[in-house]
Amino acid sequence: MAINYGVIGGTGVYNPQILTNIEELTVETPYGEIPVKVGVLSGKKVAFLARHGQGHAIPPHKINYRGNIMALKQLGVKKILATQAVGSLRKTMAPGHLVLLDQFIDFTKGRIQTFYEGGEAGVLHVDMTQPYCPNLREEILALCSRDNTIHKQGTYVCTEGPRFETPAEIKMFVNWGGDLVGMTSVPEVVLARELGMCYVGIAMVTNYAAGISEANLTHQEVVETMANNVSKLQSLIMDVIASLDEKQDCQCYLANQEAGSLG
Ligand code: HPA
Repeated sequence: MAINYGVIGGTGVYNPQILTNIEELTVETPYGEIPVKVGVLSGKKVAFLARHGQGHAIPPHKINYRGNIMALKQLGVKKILATQAVGSLRKTMAPGHLVLLDQFIDFTKGRIQTFYEGGEAGVLHVDMTQPYCPNLREEILALCSRDNTIHKQGTYVCTEGPRFETPAEIKMFVNWGGDLVGMTSVPEVVLARELGMCYVGIAMVTNYAAGISEANLTHQEVVETMANNVSKLQSLIMDVIASLDEKQDCQCYLANQEAGSLG
């Protein structure tokens, strides 16, 4: 059975409890060896990858984004559901709420954002008009429309981390039109598009951002809010995978046409 679906678990989502018959694999990629768990959900094979490693051992700026995305590609994954813990810039997006990302603003500093580094690989200026797969977003929104469990859009500001932001930075992000702040969606979403995979970001608000929150921020608060609400995220992922098929009716798979697919 082909492995068409991938789940990238962010902070607080380290184990694929929703899968059965789990096999642990090590995928060899040009960017290093990547541990991936493959299991079954609703009769479909799903690859699960813990972005921060087991027990949150890898900080955001040291994640092997290219290795992770290439590993999923090599396994044959076509559609990726990625979870992320985020701080909120809007009172209306409260801790415990889910948000389906639709745009990002990149405030990272030193991350490699491409597989196409010139030479034989060529150069790709990938389109980011709709960075998160519009069709996959629509399918998720249709599933959620019955019970209104998710904010339909959100602009994610990606910071370099691992520190939290200053209130001055958060004010600037609000002025820029940001809704949420996190440390990992970029370059993950960009790299997935470069390899022609559909990718959506499902964010869980774990706290109000610095200066909006009345208290200082702690990673503990993020982890606790995630733990208290993770079942919402898990049941959404289960419903989505149950309803998906492997057809890519969008343009995502054509994203690297200008440069040619790799490998
Ligand atoms: N800032 C950045 N990343 C985060 C936050 C935050 O407030 N909360 C969870 N991830």
